[in-house]
Amino acid sequence: MTDITRQDTRQLEDAHASGVYVKRPLTIVRGEGALLFDDAGNQYIDLVGGQGSANLGHCHPAVVAAIREQAGTLLNCTEIFYNDKRALLLDKLTALAGMPRAFLCNSGAEAVETALKFARLATGRKEIVATMPGFHGRTMGALSATWDPKYREPFEPLVPAYRHIAYNDLAAADAAITDQTAAVIVEVVQGEGGVRPADGDYLRGLQALCNARGAMFVVDEVQTGFGRTGKFFAHQHYSLTPDLMPVAKSIAGGIPMGACLIGERIGTLPPMTHGATFGGNPLACAAAIAAIDALVNEDLPARAAALGGWLLERLADLPTDKVREVRGLGLMVGIELRSKVSPVLRALQDRGVLALPAGLTVLRLLPPLVISQAQLETAAQAIEAVLAEIPETV
Ligand SMILES: Cc1ncc(COP(=O)(O)O)c(C=O)c1O
Repeated sequence: MTDITRQDTRQLEDAHASGVYVKRPLTIVRGEGALLFDDAGNQYIDLVGGQGSANLGHCHPAVVAAIREQAGTLLNCTEIFYNDKRALLLDKLTALAGMPRAFLCNSGAEAVETALKFARLATGRKEIVATMPGFHGRTMGALSATWDPKYREPFEPLVPAYRHIAYNDLAAADAAITDQTAAVIVEVVQGEGGVRPADGDYLRGLQALCNARGAMFVVDEVQTGFGRTGKFFAHQHYSLTPDLMPVAKSIAGGIPMGACLIGERIGTLPPMTHGATFGGNPLACAAAIAAIDALVNEDLPARAAALGGWLLERLADLPTDKVREVRGLGLMVGIELRSKVSPVLRALQDRGVLALPAGLTVLRLLPPLVISQAQLETAAQAIEAVLAEIPETV
């Protein structure tokens, strides 16, 4: 139990937090598996999944045990020294990704920044090509690759030499990628942009264009990584070979960490050209080792594939006058509504189900991969009931 009252919690956050988040009137104090609990003891089925950082579920026992043990051993060790946990994590992560090296950092945006900087370093070129409506984070370099004007415009001027092209449109890519292009950055399934899966042929074509024109192929797996889409990494659905792969979110079982995987084409990176004080800290590394082992041992990518396939079929029965399209890959699912999603999110919360938006009209579901089919069925019934209730136009 927390030692401040519910009233105090909300008052204190409202008074002192930055104000950049739109808050839901709910104070979450505990999590277990696919369930979250509020300060009044109410239970919720969690389809927010920490915005993709809770693939293993909340407080996975193996991750908790690894954090406890490491916390009493060594919390902090910068990368000017070697560290046992970091070495082990690098070995596991690179083996799983099939990429030889990785830069360790602390968030998705930082992992994307790293990829874009390394692409410029490796090619000596400046131009970055990104897709519409892609999302890659909110730091200046990552934001420059993010498409949505509402995130970009308040912060202009952004980093120069970025351009955005239509997603799933190889002709647009062919026209945009030149001998000046340092990198093309793409999501296998656009997450924040509306849960939009790419075509395999498009992604393979994009990779071929990058290879032919000397540009680096950057696959942003911050949201799609660590089993979410039914493979350990989403690009493995299409046998792609990224040159750089930013990951984060679920890498360390729910505690902050990011990484940028580095492929063969990147070559040697000059010393001192990049760094991060907390990058590769032993606490995050110990958590990540435990998280990756649990994902593998519990075969959670396969579980995401099976449950995701079932959920997509289950949601195909939703009332079609309210739903434009149901789409997704594995347990990354989007329900595009004909009306705004915010009243649906509120009504779902009242029924004990927490979910996410993606834009104004897409209901986005990112459940922990440990969720049971019964919990997903309860959530699907709540979605069905809420959609039946809402008026035609909201
Ligand atoms: C595809 C993608 N890239 C990058 C990011 C940024 O990650 P972070 O919020 O950890 O900076 C996100 C966050 O949602 C994302 O979905």
